[in-house]
Amino acid sequence: LMYEKRRAGDDVIDLGMGNPSDPPQEVVIEKLAEAARDDDNHGYAEALGVMSLRREVAAKYYRQHGVRLDPAREVLVCLGSKEGFSHMCLALLGPGDTAVVPAPYFPAHLYAVAMAGANAITLEATDCEKYLANLDYTCRHLVPRPKVAIVNYPHNPSTTVVEADFYRELVKLARKYGFMVISDLAYADVVFDGYKTPSFLAAPGAIEVGVEFTTMSKGYNMAGWRVGFCTGNAEMVRALATIKGYYDYGMFRPIQIAAIVALRQTEAAVEAQARIYQQRRDVLCDGLERLGWTIQRPKATMFVWAKVPDIWAQRFDSFEFAMKLLKEANVVVSPGAAFGPAGEGYLRLALVENESRLRQAVRQIGRCLGKVGEE
Ligand SMILES: Cc1ncc(COP(=O)(O)O)c(C=O)c1O
Repeated sequence: LMYEKRRAGDDVIDLGMGNPSDPPQEVVIEKLAEAARDDDNHGYAEALGVMSLRREVAAKYYRQHGVRLDPAREVLVCLGSKEGFSHMCLALLGPGDTAVVPAPYFPAHLYAVAMAGANAITLEATDCEKYLANLDYTCRHLVPRPKVAIVNYPHNPSTTVVEADFYRELVKLARKYGFMVISDLAYADVVFDGYKTPSFLAAPGAIEVGVEFTTMSKGYNMAGWRVGFCTGNAEMVRALATIKGYYDYGMFRPIQIAAIVALRQTEAAVEAQARIYQQRRDVLCDGLERLGWTIQRPKATMFVWAKVPDIWAQRFDSFEFAMKLLKEANVVVSPGAAFGPAGEGYLRLALVENESRLRQAVRQIGRCLGKVGEE
């Protein structure tokens, strides 16, 4: 419908997908072009990723989280974190196994488990203490016990964040019940108001029980480049490398070379980009609050997870309400139920348009719902 409307000349504001709309830094693009002109860079690259990129990832983990990693055994480059995550599920899980998936769920978290032929148990992830209690309960009562727990904080879609204590408790449970942990830390670089997201790998003993995925898609505006990393437990990293060896053969070397430059030289731009998302968050949240919506301001991610106001939730489910906003307000949002039943009653709005477009989106939503936003 969005494309139909656009073809018909409607100006549709797309806040549906977390697809960054700003470009990477010029120096990174220049490096890509320069490396692509080198004849030596067009063959198969090292399957695990070029060593200097893996070293750079290890250096960033130390700077950002105080975590020491061995780039040779504990860091692997993947074709976007989603590819690495899905293949890790394939490496670890099979029929008869169970994985715990956060709910509401980022679709890949559920479907990677399903595609591996394993069972998924979803546990509500928006209250992290309750999540740990439920995980403990599940491990005590489920036979066989879950083999893997997937965690994703800052959480997409709900934007829930955790503190370091959460991971300490998670590692204790993993040791007690013998499950492995996959942490998806996609939003490590998109944090607001001075909040710093902890890394699972910084928890004592974490490296014995799990891995963490990070990405250059969000903070570095390199989503289309497909650069992600798997870090942590060497055996799990090796299992992923084995599976990947059957499916792909590493990443185009010029991309890896440009990624090194991005990690080395563009940290200030990553911080500036987070401030841009923070300002957009404020514009969107202020606007929706003026329309009478109750909004929890996110401390991280590039999303606002907005509860559908009661008067509308009584009449429409989240799919119907999102469709109404598209049809009548020309604004695309993701319905909460697209992230499973736990997302019903919510909408996810991505901060991928600039501030004036976000103001316009609020005005259009206000008009469509019968209340005109100020400005
Ligand atoms: C929680 C989460 N994990 C992974 C990804 C995908 O990241 P990548 O582009 O590195 O595959 C996203 C992107 O939307 C995400 O929200």
